[in-house]
Amino acid sequence: MIKILENVSLKEKNTFAVESIAKYYTEILNENQLLSLLETNAFQSSRKYFLGGGSNTLFLGDFDGIVIHLVNKGIKFIENNKYFAILDVEAGVGWHNFVEITLRNKLFGLENLALIPGTVGGAITQNIGAYGAELKDFIVDVRGVDIRSGRFITFQANDCKFGYRTSIFKSDLKGKFIITSSKLKLQKKPNVNLSYPELRKIVKKFPFIKPDPKYIFEQVVKLRQSKLPDLIKYPNAGSFFKNPIVNEGIYSRLKKEFPDVPAFEVTNGLYKIPAGWLIEKAGWKGKRIGNVGTYEKHSLVIINYGVKTGLEVLDFAKLIQKDVYEKFGISLENEVEIVN
Ligand code: EPU
Repeated sequence: MIKILENVSLKEKNTFAVESIAKYYTEILNENQLLSLLETNAFQSSRKYFLGGGSNTLFLGDFDGIVIHLVNKGIKFIENNKYFAILDVEAGVGWHNFVEITLRNKLFGLENLALIPGTVGGAITQNIGAYGAELKDFIVDVRGVDIRSGRFITFQANDCKFGYRTSIFKSDLKGKFIITSSKLKLQKKPNVNLSYPELRKIVKKFPFIKPDPKYIFEQVVKLRQSKLPDLIKYPNAGSFFKNPIVNEGIYSRLKKEFPDVPAFEVTNGLYKIPAGWLIEKAGWKGKRIGNVGTYEKHSLVIINYGVKTGLEVLDFAKLIQKDVYEKFGISLENEVEIVN
């Protein structure tokens, strides 16, 4: 049996803490419940939104449809040998909690992705990345249900079209497929990933400490806490925009005008420019208009200081986009999922 509630407030279910009333709302504990849901009238006749941890979502107003919240939380071993383990993890498991569990079991690889809010399902959908690691590199496959046929499908990692903060689940299959679980492969050998310059700097500062995955985990947690605002005190959804990727021409024009512009070469001739830098340079760091503002320590994060609706947050974001475009000729793309 599944319960579908009506007129449910989503305020406590999104980290931006904006008010939004969902016409229908349901929580799904397992695959059988999901199949029953597909047959209901409320599901078939409504717009749908699949909610994970609500940490990357901005509701602009009330949602005139059904919000499906996956709360399935199983984790099991599929394989466990001397070198690696494969875990099957359900979509509703909290991401950070999962990272902690893997480390406690001496399974390594996810430590650079510590403290990212949200659920496993959300993490896969947008291929989370931080401090030199990306989730896609640990995924074996992703299972879920095609909502039109009601059939379960397993996608191998190679078929998931993973890219920078994107996947097939966020593009071609958006609204058509619900992720229910995924298999992840983790290593037993405690190699550490120090490819992110900031992390490398910390490790170099204390040469007498030999960095193991637990140490990296702790440093990433500290780094995030020092840079990103507390979600409870300052409701936000992490980076509001993606870091833009520009061609050589734009990069050299920018570099001529601003020799200090940071950039990371992504592939030949394409450069990722930190959106945070562009926004700060445009004068928006720590700037507040009414009840919305950017974080004083990181301008890529937009904070809700008490807006009436999410629309106010979006209006503020648009001002930033316009200004950055006018100053640098670069368009910032939303990283946060906008729901109206
Ligand atoms: N910077 C500034 N001013 C700012 C903020 C950043 O100049 O106000 C510049 C600095 O040069 C800094 C560089 O931007 O060195 C990069 O900043 P940071 O290391 O904080 O990373 P980011 O590019 O802003 C990305 C992810 C984060 C992730 C960090 C760490 C995106 C959109 N964001 O941010 O992910 O935690 O790298 O790897 O790719 C998220 O997706 O919500 C998120 C927080």
